[in-house]
Amino acid sequence: MVLVIISAVLTSYCVLLLFFALFQVALSEPLNLHWTHKVFLFCGVLLIAFGVTGISLEWKEEWPTVLLSLQATAPFLQFGAVGALTLLSPFVFHHFYMAKGKCMYEKMIIFQMKYIMFVVVSAPIFICPLWIQSPCLIKQEQLPAKPKLIGHRGAPMLAPENTMMSFSRSVACNVTAFETDVQISKDGIPFLMHDHQGSGFLRRTTNVEDKFPNNNFNSSYDLTWDEYKDLNAGEWFMKTDPFHSVSKLSHEEKEMSRNEKIPSLLQLLNLSKQHNISVIFDLYSPNTGNDTADIVSTILSSGIDPSLVLWLPPAGRDYVNEIAPGFIQVYSNVTEMFMRGGTHLNVKYSKFSAAEIRELRRRNITVNLWVVNERWLFSLLWCSGASSVTTNSCHLLKDMNEPDWVMSRQKYNVIWITVNAASLLIMTAFFIFQG
Ligand SMILES: *[C@@H]1O[C@H](CO)[C@@H](O)[C@H](O)[C@H]1NC(C)=O
Ligand SMILES: *[C@@H]1O[C@H](CO)[C@@H](O)[C@H](O)[C@H]1NC(C)=O
Ligand SMILES: *[C@@H]1O[C@H](CO)[C@@H](O)[C@H](O)[C@H]1NC(C)=O
Repeated sequence: MVLVIISAVLTSYCVLLLFFALFQVALSEPLNLHWTHKVFLFCGVLLIAFGVTGISLEWKEEWPTVLLSLQATAPFLQFGAVGALTLLSPFVFHHFYMAKGKCMYEKMIIFQMKYIMFVVVSAPIFICPLWIQSPCLIKQEQLPAKPKLIGHRGAPMLAPENTMMSFSRSVACNVTAFETDVQISKDGIPFLMHDHQGSGFLRRTTNVEDKFPNNNFNSSYDLTWDEYKDLNAGEWFMKTDPFHSVSKLSHEEKEMSRNEKIPSLLQLLNLSKQHNISVIFDLYSPNTGNDTADIVSTILSSGIDPSLVLWLPPAGRDYVNEIAPGFIQVYSNVTEMFMRGGTHLNVKYSKFSAAEIRELRRRNITVNLWVVNERWLFSLLWCSGASSVTTNSCHLLKDMNEPDWVMSRQKYNVIWITVNAASLLIMTAFFIFQG
Protein backbone atom coordinates (compact mmCIF):
# COMPACT_ATOMS: atom_id res chain seq x y z
CA MET A 1 0.00 0.00 0.00
CA VAL A 2 2.83 2.35 0.89
CA LEU A 3 4.51 1.63 -2.43
CA VAL A 4 1.29 2.19 -4.34
CA ILE A 5 0.77 5.56 -2.63
CA ILE A 6 4.35 6.68 -3.23
CA SER A 7 4.15 5.71 -6.90
CA ALA A 8 0.81 7.49 -7.29
CA VAL A 9 2.24 10.67 -5.77
CA LEU A 10 5.41 10.55 -7.87
CA THR A 11 3.50 9.81 -11.07
CA SER A 12 1.03 12.67 -10.51
CA TYR A 13 3.95 14.95 -9.74
CA CYS A 14 5.81 14.05 -12.94
CA VAL A 15 2.65 14.48 -15.04
CA LEU A 16 1.99 17.90 -13.49
CA LEU A 17 5.57 18.92 -14.12
CA LEU A 18 5.18 17.90 -17.74
CA PHE A 19 2.01 20.00 -18.06
CA PHE A 20 3.72 23.04 -16.55
CA ALA A 21 6.60 22.54 -18.95
CA LEU A 22 4.18 22.52 -21.89
CA PHE A 23 2.53 25.70 -20.66
CA GLN A 24 5.88 27.34 -20.28
CA VAL A 25 6.93 26.40 -23.77
CA ALA A 26 3.59 27.69 -25.05
CA LEU A 27 4.27 31.00 -23.28
CA SER A 28 7.85 31.07 -24.61
CA GLU A 29 9.22 30.94 -21.09
CA PRO A 30 12.61 29.26 -20.61
CA LEU A 31 12.59 25.78 -19.10
CA ASN A 32 14.74 26.00 -16.00
CA LEU A 33 14.25 23.14 -13.59
CA HIS A 34 14.88 23.89 -9.91
CA TRP A 35 17.24 21.34 -8.32
CA THR A 36 14.50 19.99 -5.99
CA HIS A 37 12.49 19.01 -9.06
CA LYS A 38 15.54 17.27 -10.44
CA VAL A 39 15.84 15.28 -7.20
CA PHE A 40 12.16 14.25 -7.31
CA LEU A 41 12.33 13.35 -10.98
CA PHE A 42 15.35 11.21 -10.18
CA CYS A 43 13.28 9.51 -7.45
CA GLY A 44 10.61 8.82 -10.08
CA VAL A 45 13.15 7.22 -12.39
CA LEU A 46 14.52 5.14 -9.49
CA LEU A 47 11.02 3.96 -8.58
CA ILE A 48 10.35 2.83 -12.14
CA ALA A 49 13.70 1.04 -12.26
CA PHE A 50 12.96 -0.72 -8.95
CA GLY A 51 9.44 -1.53 -10.11
CA VAL A 52 10.61 -3.17 -13.32
CA THR A 53 13.40 -5.05 -11.51
CA GLY A 54 11.01 -6.14 -8.74
CA ILE A 55 8.44 -7.44 -11.20
CA SER A 56 11.17 -9.25 -13.13
CA LEU A 57 12.35 -11.01 -10.00
CA GLU A 58 9.03 -11.66 -8.25
CA TRP A 59 6.65 -12.30 -11.16
CA LYS A 60 8.99 -13.38 -13.93
CA GLU A 61 6.30 -15.72 -15.24
CA GLU A 62 3.99 -12.74 -15.80
CA TRP A 63 6.10 -11.14 -18.53
CA PRO A 64 4.43 -13.29 -21.23
CA THR A 65 1.13 -11.77 -20.05
CA VAL A 66 2.53 -8.29 -20.68
CA LEU A 67 3.43 -9.32 -24.23
CA LEU A 68 -0.03 -10.84 -24.71
CA SER A 69 -1.66 -7.66 -23.47
CA LEU A 70 0.30 -5.77 -26.14
CA GLN A 71 -1.20 -8.03 -28.80
CA ALA A 72 -4.61 -6.94 -27.57
CA THR A 73 -3.82 -3.23 -27.34
CA ALA A 74 -0.91 -2.36 -29.70
CA PRO A 75 -3.02 -1.11 -32.65
CA PHE A 76 -4.91 1.28 -30.38
CA LEU A 77 -1.82 2.34 -28.45
CA GLN A 78 -0.28 3.33 -31.77
CA PHE A 79 -3.29 5.52 -32.64
CA GLY A 80 -3.01 7.12 -29.19
CA ALA A 81 0.73 7.71 -29.61
CA VAL A 82 0.24 9.32 -33.03
CA GLY A 83 -2.50 11.54 -31.56
CA ALA A 84 -0.27 12.60 -28.66
CA LEU A 85 2.61 13.32 -31.02
CA THR A 86 0.36 15.47 -33.20
CA LEU A 87 -0.88 17.45 -30.19
CA LEU A 88 2.66 17.94 -28.89
CA SER A 89 4.15 18.93 -32.23
CA PRO A 90 3.18 22.67 -32.10
CA PHE A 91 5.16 23.02 -28.86
CA VAL A 92 8.12 21.23 -30.36
CA PHE A 93 8.04 23.27 -33.58
CA HIS A 94 7.74 26.44 -31.56
CA HIS A 95 10.96 25.45 -29.83
CA PHE A 96 12.60 24.88 -33.26
CA TYR A 97 12.20 28.48 -34.26
CA MET A 98 13.47 29.74 -30.90
CA ALA A 99 16.95 28.61 -31.87
CA LYS A 100 19.55 30.85 -30.30
CA GLY A 101 22.82 31.16 -32.10
CA LYS A 102 25.52 33.66 -32.88
CA CYS A 103 24.98 33.75 -36.58
CA MET A 104 22.52 32.66 -39.22
CA TYR A 105 24.62 29.62 -40.11
CA GLU A 106 24.79 28.39 -36.49
CA LYS A 107 21.01 28.84 -36.12
CA MET A 108 20.46 26.83 -39.27
CA ILE A 109 22.56 23.91 -37.94
CA ILE A 110 20.72 23.87 -34.59
CA PHE A 111 17.41 24.00 -36.41
CA GLN A 112 18.34 21.03 -38.55
CA MET A 113 19.64 19.06 -35.57
CA LYS A 114 16.31 19.54 -33.77
CA TYR A 115 14.47 18.55 -36.90
CA ILE A 116 16.45 15.33 -37.25
CA MET A 117 15.92 14.54 -33.56
CA PHE A 118 12.17 14.95 -33.99
CA VAL A 119 12.06 12.67 -37.02
CA VAL A 120 14.22 10.04 -35.27
CA VAL A 121 11.91 10.02 -32.25
CA SER A 122 8.63 10.02 -34.13
CA ALA A 123 9.43 7.73 -37.07
CA PRO A 124 9.22 4.49 -35.02
CA ILE A 125 5.78 5.53 -33.75
CA PHE A 126 4.57 6.05 -37.31
CA ILE A 127 5.89 2.86 -38.85
CA CYS A 128 5.56 0.39 -35.96
CA PRO A 129 2.24 -1.02 -37.30
CA LEU A 130 4.37 -2.87 -39.86
CA TRP A 131 5.58 -5.06 -37.00
CA ILE A 132 2.42 -5.25 -34.92
CA GLN A 133 1.17 -8.84 -34.66
CA SER A 134 -2.10 -9.88 -33.13
CA PRO A 135 -4.11 -13.08 -33.57
CA CYS A 136 -7.20 -10.84 -33.91
CA LEU A 137 -5.87 -9.22 -37.09
CA ILE A 138 -7.85 -11.71 -39.18
CA LYS A 139 -10.89 -11.60 -41.43
CA GLN A 140 -14.23 -12.06 -39.67
CA GLU A 141 -14.85 -15.29 -41.61
CA GLN A 142 -11.52 -16.72 -40.39
CA LEU A 143 -12.58 -16.28 -36.77
CA PRO A 144 -12.58 -19.73 -35.11
CA ALA A 145 -15.51 -21.00 -33.03
CA LYS A 146 -15.83 -19.55 -29.53
CA PRO A 147 -13.74 -21.56 -27.04
CA LYS A 148 -15.79 -23.70 -24.68
CA LEU A 149 -15.72 -22.87 -20.98
CA ILE A 150 -14.46 -25.08 -18.17
CA GLY A 151 -15.42 -23.99 -14.66
CA HIS A 152 -12.29 -23.65 -12.52
CA ARG A 153 -13.37 -25.29 -9.24
CA GLY A 154 -16.91 -24.55 -10.40
CA ALA A 155 -17.87 -20.90 -10.51
CA PRO A 156 -15.64 -19.62 -7.69
CA MET A 157 -16.82 -16.02 -7.98
CA LEU A 158 -20.46 -17.00 -7.49
CA ALA A 159 -20.06 -19.63 -4.77
CA PRO A 160 -17.30 -21.11 -2.57
CA GLU A 161 -14.81 -23.02 -4.76
CA ASN A 162 -15.05 -26.80 -5.07
CA THR A 163 -18.53 -27.04 -3.52
CA MET A 164 -21.66 -28.48 -5.11
CA MET A 165 -23.17 -24.99 -5.18
CA SER A 166 -20.16 -23.77 -7.17
CA PHE A 167 -20.48 -26.58 -9.72
CA SER A 168 -24.26 -26.12 -9.99
CA ARG A 169 -23.80 -22.45 -10.70
CA SER A 170 -21.26 -23.24 -13.43
CA VAL A 171 -23.87 -25.50 -15.07
CA ALA A 172 -25.86 -22.31 -15.69
CA CYS A 173 -22.85 -20.99 -17.68
CA ASN A 174 -23.13 -23.95 -20.05
CA VAL A 175 -19.65 -25.15 -19.12
CA THR A 176 -18.34 -28.11 -21.06
CA ALA A 177 -16.41 -29.49 -18.08
CA PHE A 178 -15.98 -29.12 -14.33
CA GLU A 179 -12.38 -28.56 -13.24
CA THR A 180 -11.60 -29.71 -9.71
CA ASP A 181 -9.00 -31.16 -7.34
CA VAL A 182 -9.21 -34.62 -5.81
CA GLN A 183 -7.68 -35.95 -2.60
CA ILE A 184 -8.26 -39.20 -0.70
CA SER A 185 -9.46 -39.57 2.89
CA LYS A 186 -8.09 -42.00 5.48
CA ASP A 187 -10.84 -44.48 4.54
CA GLY A 188 -10.20 -44.21 0.79
CA ILE A 189 -13.00 -41.86 -0.26
CA PRO A 190 -12.03 -39.35 -2.97
CA PHE A 191 -13.19 -35.82 -2.07
CA LEU A 192 -12.76 -32.35 -3.57
CA MET A 193 -10.27 -29.93 -2.03
CA HIS A 194 -7.57 -27.82 -3.60
CA ASP A 195 -5.18 -26.87 -0.79
CA HIS A 196 -2.96 -29.76 0.05
CA GLN A 197 0.51 -28.70 1.07
CA GLY A 198 1.67 -28.52 4.66
CA SER A 199 -0.07 -26.32 7.18
CA GLY A 200 -2.28 -24.53 4.62
CA PHE A 201 -4.23 -27.77 4.18
CA LEU A 202 -7.97 -27.22 5.00
CA ARG A 203 -7.33 -23.93 6.79
CA ARG A 204 -8.17 -21.51 4.03
CA THR A 205 -11.49 -22.97 2.95
CA THR A 206 -12.90 -24.85 5.96
CA ASN A 207 -13.56 -24.36 9.65
CA VAL A 208 -11.06 -27.08 10.58
CA GLU A 209 -9.55 -24.82 13.25
CA ASP A 210 -12.90 -24.56 15.08
CA LYS A 211 -13.65 -28.28 14.85
CA PHE A 212 -10.16 -29.52 15.73
CA PRO A 213 -8.50 -26.68 17.65
CA ASN A 214 -5.67 -28.86 18.92
CA ASN A 215 -4.72 -30.69 15.75
CA ASN A 216 -2.55 -29.65 12.88
CA PHE A 217 -3.39 -31.66 9.77
CA ASN A 218 -1.15 -31.68 6.74
CA SER A 219 -2.21 -34.70 4.73
CA SER A 220 -5.57 -35.82 3.36
CA TYR A 221 -5.05 -39.19 5.11
CA ASP A 222 -5.36 -37.50 8.52
CA LEU A 223 -9.18 -37.48 8.53
CA THR A 224 -11.95 -39.86 7.54
CA TRP A 225 -14.66 -38.99 5.06
CA ASP A 226 -17.17 -38.70 7.92
CA GLU A 227 -14.97 -36.06 9.49
CA TYR A 228 -14.46 -34.17 6.22
CA LYS A 229 -18.17 -34.29 5.54
CA ASP A 230 -18.82 -32.45 8.80
CA LEU A 231 -16.60 -29.46 8.02
CA ASN A 232 -18.08 -26.23 6.75
CA ALA A 233 -16.60 -25.20 3.39
CA GLY A 234 -18.56 -22.00 2.73
CA GLU A 235 -18.23 -19.59 5.64
CA TRP A 236 -14.68 -18.61 4.63
CA PHE A 237 -16.09 -17.39 1.29
CA MET A 238 -18.58 -15.09 2.99
CA LYS A 239 -15.94 -13.81 5.40
CA THR A 240 -13.00 -13.24 3.06
CA ASP A 241 -14.97 -12.48 -0.15
CA PRO A 242 -11.97 -13.51 -2.29
CA PHE A 243 -13.34 -12.07 -5.55
CA HIS A 244 -15.26 -9.09 -4.11
CA SER A 245 -18.39 -10.70 -5.48
CA VAL A 246 -20.39 -11.58 -2.34
CA SER A 247 -22.35 -8.32 -2.42
CA LYS A 248 -23.83 -9.37 -5.78
CA LEU A 249 -25.33 -12.58 -4.37
CA SER A 250 -28.98 -12.78 -3.39
CA HIS A 251 -30.02 -13.44 0.20
CA GLU A 252 -30.75 -17.12 -0.55
CA GLU A 253 -27.42 -17.55 -2.32
CA LYS A 254 -25.60 -16.10 0.67
CA GLU A 255 -27.40 -18.47 3.03
CA MET A 256 -26.62 -21.39 0.75
CA SER A 257 -22.94 -20.44 0.44
CA ARG A 258 -22.63 -20.20 4.18
CA ASN A 259 -23.77 -23.82 4.61
CA GLU A 260 -21.73 -25.52 1.89
CA LYS A 261 -19.83 -28.72 2.72
CA ILE A 262 -16.87 -30.52 1.17
CA PRO A 263 -18.25 -32.70 -1.68
CA SER A 264 -17.09 -36.19 -2.51
CA LEU A 265 -15.95 -36.97 -6.06
CA LEU A 266 -19.01 -39.20 -6.42
CA GLN A 267 -21.37 -36.26 -5.82
CA LEU A 268 -19.69 -34.34 -8.61
CA LEU A 269 -19.77 -37.34 -10.96
CA ASN A 270 -23.52 -37.60 -10.41
CA LEU A 271 -23.94 -33.95 -11.37
CA SER A 272 -21.77 -34.56 -14.44
CA LYS A 273 -23.85 -37.53 -15.44
CA GLN A 274 -27.08 -35.61 -14.97
CA HIS A 275 -25.98 -32.70 -17.19
CA ASN A 276 -23.66 -34.52 -19.63
CA ILE A 277 -20.71 -32.33 -18.51
CA SER A 278 -17.12 -33.62 -18.46
CA VAL A 279 -14.87 -33.74 -15.38
CA ILE A 280 -11.19 -32.86 -15.28
CA PHE A 281 -9.16 -32.86 -12.08
CA ASP A 282 -5.77 -32.60 -10.50
CA LEU A 283 -4.91 -35.36 -8.09
CA TYR A 284 -3.17 -34.30 -4.89
CA SER A 285 -2.30 -37.36 -2.95
CA PRO A 286 0.64 -38.57 -0.90
CA ASN A 287 0.44 -41.96 -2.59
CA THR A 288 -0.70 -41.39 -6.14
CA GLY A 289 -0.24 -45.01 -7.23
CA ASN A 290 -2.73 -46.61 -4.81
CA ASP A 291 -5.10 -43.69 -4.82
CA THR A 292 -5.45 -43.82 -8.57
CA ALA A 293 -7.04 -47.25 -8.19
CA ASP A 294 -9.55 -45.91 -5.63
CA ILE A 295 -10.45 -43.03 -7.89
CA VAL A 296 -10.83 -45.09 -11.04
CA SER A 297 -13.08 -47.58 -9.24
CA THR A 298 -15.19 -44.71 -7.85
CA ILE A 299 -15.57 -43.31 -11.35
CA LEU A 300 -16.39 -46.64 -12.97
CA SER A 301 -18.93 -47.54 -10.28
CA SER A 302 -20.67 -44.16 -10.65
CA GLY A 303 -21.97 -45.24 -14.04
CA ILE A 304 -20.78 -42.06 -15.77
CA ASP A 305 -20.07 -42.21 -19.51
CA PRO A 306 -16.27 -42.81 -19.52
CA SER A 307 -15.78 -40.34 -22.38
CA LEU A 308 -16.85 -37.58 -19.94
CA VAL A 309 -13.74 -38.25 -17.84
CA LEU A 310 -10.73 -36.16 -18.87
CA TRP A 311 -7.85 -37.94 -17.17
CA LEU A 312 -5.08 -35.48 -16.28
CA PRO A 313 -2.90 -36.94 -13.44
CA PRO A 314 0.28 -38.21 -15.11
CA ALA A 315 1.26 -40.72 -12.41
CA GLY A 316 -1.04 -43.65 -13.09
CA ARG A 317 -1.65 -43.08 -16.78
CA ASP A 318 -0.68 -46.56 -18.00
CA TYR A 319 -2.79 -48.26 -15.35
CA VAL A 320 -5.77 -46.01 -16.09
CA ASN A 321 -5.46 -46.62 -19.82
CA GLU A 322 -5.66 -50.34 -19.21
CA ILE A 323 -8.52 -50.39 -16.67
CA ALA A 324 -10.56 -47.57 -18.20
CA PRO A 325 -9.69 -47.20 -21.89
CA GLY A 326 -12.78 -45.03 -22.39
CA PHE A 327 -11.34 -42.11 -20.40
CA ILE A 328 -9.89 -39.29 -22.46
CA GLN A 329 -6.20 -38.83 -21.67
CA VAL A 330 -5.24 -35.18 -21.27
CA TYR A 331 -1.57 -34.11 -21.27
CA SER A 332 0.28 -31.06 -20.02
CA ASN A 333 3.38 -31.97 -22.02
CA VAL A 334 3.06 -31.76 -25.78
CA THR A 335 6.04 -34.08 -26.46
CA GLU A 336 4.57 -36.74 -24.23
CA MET A 337 1.16 -36.33 -25.86
CA PHE A 338 2.52 -36.93 -29.35
CA MET A 339 4.64 -39.86 -28.13
CA ARG A 340 1.57 -41.54 -26.68
CA GLY A 341 -0.73 -40.65 -29.54
CA GLY A 342 -2.91 -38.37 -27.40
CA THR A 343 -5.10 -35.59 -28.76
CA HIS A 344 -5.86 -33.44 -25.69
CA LEU A 345 -3.66 -30.75 -24.14
CA ASN A 346 -4.16 -28.72 -20.96
CA VAL A 347 -1.59 -25.92 -20.45
CA LYS A 348 -1.21 -22.40 -19.09
CA TYR A 349 -2.56 -19.70 -21.41
CA SER A 350 0.89 -18.22 -22.04
CA LYS A 351 2.52 -21.53 -22.96
CA PHE A 352 1.87 -21.36 -26.72
CA SER A 353 1.96 -18.54 -29.24
CA ALA A 354 -1.07 -17.96 -31.46
CA ALA A 355 0.78 -19.66 -34.33
CA GLU A 356 1.49 -22.73 -32.19
CA ILE A 357 -2.14 -22.97 -31.09
CA ARG A 358 -3.27 -22.74 -34.73
CA GLU A 359 -0.85 -25.46 -35.76
CA LEU A 360 -2.03 -27.78 -32.95
CA ARG A 361 -5.66 -27.14 -33.88
CA ARG A 362 -4.87 -27.85 -37.52
CA ARG A 363 -3.61 -31.25 -36.37
CA ASN A 364 -6.97 -31.78 -34.61
CA ILE A 365 -5.48 -31.46 -31.11
CA THR A 366 -7.91 -30.20 -28.49
CA VAL A 367 -6.18 -27.34 -26.65
CA ASN A 368 -7.45 -26.22 -23.24
CA LEU A 369 -5.79 -23.17 -21.63
CA TRP A 370 -5.91 -22.22 -17.93
CA VAL A 371 -6.80 -19.92 -16.12
CA VAL A 372 -8.44 -17.25 -18.26
CA ASN A 373 -10.64 -14.75 -16.44
CA GLU A 374 -10.41 -11.53 -18.44
CA ARG A 375 -12.33 -10.56 -21.55
CA TRP A 376 -9.28 -9.28 -23.41
CA LEU A 377 -7.32 -12.49 -22.83
CA PHE A 378 -10.30 -14.64 -23.74
CA SER A 379 -10.67 -12.58 -26.94
CA LEU A 380 -7.04 -13.19 -27.96
CA LEU A 381 -7.28 -16.93 -27.32
CA TRP A 382 -10.57 -17.03 -29.20
CA CYS A 383 -8.87 -15.43 -32.22
CA SER A 384 -6.02 -17.94 -31.87
CA GLY A 385 -8.47 -20.84 -31.98
CA ALA A 386 -8.22 -22.35 -28.47
CA SER A 387 -10.68 -25.21 -28.00
CA SER A 388 -11.59 -24.27 -24.44
CA VAL A 389 -10.40 -22.28 -21.45
CA THR A 390 -10.55 -22.96 -17.73
CA THR A 391 -12.03 -19.91 -16.05
CA ASN A 392 -13.10 -18.38 -12.75
CA SER A 393 -15.54 -16.09 -14.50
CA CYS A 394 -17.72 -18.32 -16.69
CA HIS A 395 -20.65 -16.01 -15.88
CA LEU A 396 -18.90 -13.13 -17.69
CA LEU A 397 -17.35 -15.05 -20.59
CA LYS A 398 -20.55 -16.94 -21.44
CA ASP A 399 -22.19 -13.66 -22.50
CA MET A 400 -19.50 -12.75 -25.02
CA ASN A 401 -20.80 -13.22 -28.55
CA GLU A 402 -17.61 -12.11 -30.23
CA PRO A 403 -14.04 -11.14 -29.26
CA ASP A 404 -13.45 -7.54 -28.13
CA TRP A 405 -12.23 -6.76 -31.63
CA VAL A 406 -11.45 -8.51 -34.89
CA MET A 407 -10.04 -6.62 -37.85
CA SER A 408 -8.61 -7.84 -41.13
CA ARG A 409 -4.99 -6.91 -41.83
CA GLN A 410 -6.10 -4.93 -44.92
CA LYS A 411 -8.61 -2.90 -42.95
CA TYR A 412 -6.02 -2.20 -40.25
CA ASN A 413 -3.52 -1.09 -42.91
CA VAL A 414 -6.05 1.35 -44.37
CA ILE A 415 -6.84 2.75 -40.91
CA TRP A 416 -3.30 3.24 -39.67
CA ILE A 417 -2.07 4.71 -42.94
CA THR A 418 -5.01 7.14 -42.92
CA VAL A 419 -4.36 8.09 -39.29
CA ASN A 420 -0.67 8.62 -40.00
CA ALA A 421 -1.38 10.68 -43.12
CA ALA A 422 -3.87 12.88 -41.26
CA SER A 423 -1.38 13.38 -38.45
CA LEU A 424 1.44 14.30 -40.87
CA LEU A 425 -0.84 16.77 -42.62
CA ILE A 426 -1.80 18.47 -39.34
CA MET A 427 1.85 18.56 -38.25
CA THR A 428 2.90 20.14 -41.52
CA ALA A 429 0.25 22.80 -41.05
CA PHE A 430 1.53 23.47 -37.52
CA PHE A 431 5.09 23.62 -38.80
CA ILE A 432 4.32 26.15 -41.52
CA PHE A 433 2.14 28.18 -39.19
CA GLN A 434 4.87 28.32 -36.51
CA GLY A 435 7.42 29.38 -39.12
C1 LIG B 1 -23.28 -35.29 -24.40
O1 LIG B 1 -22.53 -34.26 -25.01
C2 LIG B 1 -21.81 -34.67 -26.15
C3 LIG B 1 -21.02 -33.47 -26.66
O2 LIG B 1 -20.43 -32.79 -25.64
C4 LIG B 1 -22.76 -35.18 -27.21
O3 LIG B 1 -22.01 -35.64 -28.32
C5 LIG B 1 -23.60 -36.30 -26.64
O4 LIG B 1 -24.55 -36.71 -27.58
C6 LIG B 1 -24.29 -35.86 -25.37
N1 LIG B 1 -24.98 -36.98 -24.77
C7 LIG B 1 -26.22 -36.91 -24.30
C8 LIG B 1 -26.78 -38.14 -23.69
O5 LIG B 1 -26.86 -35.88 -24.36
C1 LIG C 1 7.93 -33.62 -21.71
O1 LIG C 1 8.04 -35.00 -21.96
C2 LIG C 1 9.27 -35.40 -22.55
C3 LIG C 1 9.17 -36.86 -22.90
O2 LIG C 1 8.54 -37.58 -21.91
C4 LIG C 1 10.40 -35.08 -21.57
O3 LIG C 1 11.63 -35.42 -22.16
C5 LIG C 1 10.37 -33.58 -21.26
O4 LIG C 1 11.34 -33.28 -20.29
C6 LIG C 1 9.01 -33.16 -20.75
N1 LIG C 1 8.98 -31.72 -20.64
C7 LIG C 1 8.60 -31.10 -19.53
C8 LIG C 1 8.62 -29.63 -19.56
O5 LIG C 1 8.26 -31.72 -18.54
C1 LIG D 1 -8.80 -33.23 -38.71
O1 LIG D 1 -10.15 -33.61 -38.69
C2 LIG D 1 -10.84 -33.37 -39.91
C3 LIG D 1 -12.31 -33.69 -39.72
O2 LIG D 1 -12.54 -34.52 -38.66
C4 LIG D 1 -10.20 -34.18 -41.02
O3 LIG D 1 -10.84 -33.93 -42.24
C5 LIG D 1 -8.72 -33.80 -41.14
O4 LIG D 1 -8.08 -34.63 -42.08
C6 LIG D 1 -8.02 -33.95 -39.79
N1 LIG D 1 -6.67 -33.40 -39.91
C7 LIG D 1 -5.57 -34.04 -39.51
C8 LIG D 1 -4.27 -33.35 -39.69
O5 LIG D 1 -5.64 -35.16 -39.02
